[in-house]
Amino acid sequence: MSRCIVTGAAGFIGSHLSEALIARGHDVIGIDAFIPYYPRSFKENNLSGLRKEKAFTFHEIDLRSAALHDLVRGADVVFHLAAMAGLMKSWSDFQSYSSCNAEGTQRLLDAARDESIPHFIYVSTSSVYGKEATGPEDSLLAPFSPYGITKLAGEQLCRAYEANFGLPITILRYFSVYGPRQRPDMAYHILIRSLLQGEPFTLFGDGEQTRSNTFCADGVQATLLAFEKREQALGEVFNVGGGEIVSLNTVRAMLEELIGRKIQVDRKPARPGDQKHTSAHIEKIKGKLGYNPATSVYDGLKAQIEWQKQLA
Ligand SMILES: NC(=O)c1ccc[n+]([C@@H]2O[C@H](COP(=O)([O-])OP(=O)(O)OC[C@H]3O[C@@H](n4cnc5c(N)ncnc54)[C@H](O)[C@@H]3O)[C@@H](O)[C@H]2O)c1
Repeated sequence: MSRCIVTGAAGFIGSHLSEALIARGHDVIGIDAFIPYYPRSFKENNLSGLRKEKAFTFHEIDLRSAALHDLVRGADVVFHLAAMAGLMKSWSDFQSYSSCNAEGTQRLLDAARDESIPHFIYVSTSSVYGKEATGPEDSLLAPFSPYGITKLAGEQLCRAYEANFGLPITILRYFSVYGPRQRPDMAYHILIRSLLQGEPFTLFGDGEQTRSNTFCADGVQATLLAFEKREQALGEVFNVGGGEIVSLNTVRAMLEELIGRKIQVDRKPARPGDQKHTSAHIEKIKGKLGYNPATSVYDGLKAQIEWQKQLA
C-alpha cells in the first residue's frame, strides 16, 4: 500500500486516477483549489464517491500559496495533475496559466525535493509539441499556445529539479482525454450537450482536424503503469494516447448516430492556438511499460453520453 498525493484531484482526470488508486488499495491525499475555470459543482460531483472513502483525504488548497512540505511528507509518489487546462483562455488569462502551471509546479517540486519524495509524476500535454503532434517523444517542442508554453515550463522545471537535485521524475504527455466527467469546455462535451439539448454547435475550422483521443480509463492505466513500473519509468517522458485517430467530423457523425439526432452546425474559422492534427506516437510507452489502450472511440463516446444524460 502506498501513500499517493494527487494534485487536481477534484478535476476530470485527477478524480478518476484517485478512484483507481484507492481501488488498488492505496491511500490518496487529494489536493485541489477548485479554480473557477469551470463550475465547482462539476468538481464536487467528481469528488462525491471519493469523499466516502476512508483511504481518501482531501485538502482544498492552492499550490501557488499553501504550505506544501507537511502535506507531501512521507508520500511514496506525487501525481501532479493540477493545472489551468484548456488552451483558449490562456490567451486572455495568461497570469492564471503561468502562475498555476509554472509557479504552482515549482513550489510542489521544491517540497518534493526537500521531503525526498521517491517519484514525481508530472502530467503534461501533447500541446507542448505545437500545431501538429504526431511524432515520438524526442520531436521538436514548439508549443503553439500560451497553455502549451506553461505546460512545457512545468516539464522543464521537472528536468531542472531532476538534473540539479536528483529528484526522480516521469513525464506523461496526455493526448485529448475524453469520457465521463470531461471538462465542460472540451469539444466532445459541448457536442454532446448541444445534441442532447437540441442546440446548434459552433465548429471552429473545417472539422477535419484529427485527434488521438484517449479514453479517461486508458489515461489512468498509463499513469498507474508509470507508478507501478517505476524503474522503467524513471527519467522518461511518454506520450499517452488512445489507439484510434479520428476527425471531429467523424466524431460528430458517431454522436449523431448514437443520440439519434442531427446537429445544426455554425461554422467559424479555426481559432489561434488550435492544433490541426494530433496522432499519439505511443510505441515507447507500449514497449517500456506495456501500455495498451483498450477503449474504442465509439464505446468511449457512449459512456460519455450516458454520463452527460445524468447532468441534464
Ligand atoms: N483533459 C485533457 O484532454 C488533457 C490533455 C492533455 C493534458 N491534460 C492535463 O491533465 C491534467 C488534468 O486535466 P483535466 O482535464 O482533468 O483538467 P481539470 O481542470 O478538470 O483538472 C485540473 C484541476 O486542477 C485544479 N488546479 C488548478 N490549479 C490549481 C492550483 N494552483 N492549486 C490547486 N489546484 C489547482 C483545478 O481546480 C482542477 O480541478 C492537467 O495537467 C492538464 O494539463 C489534460
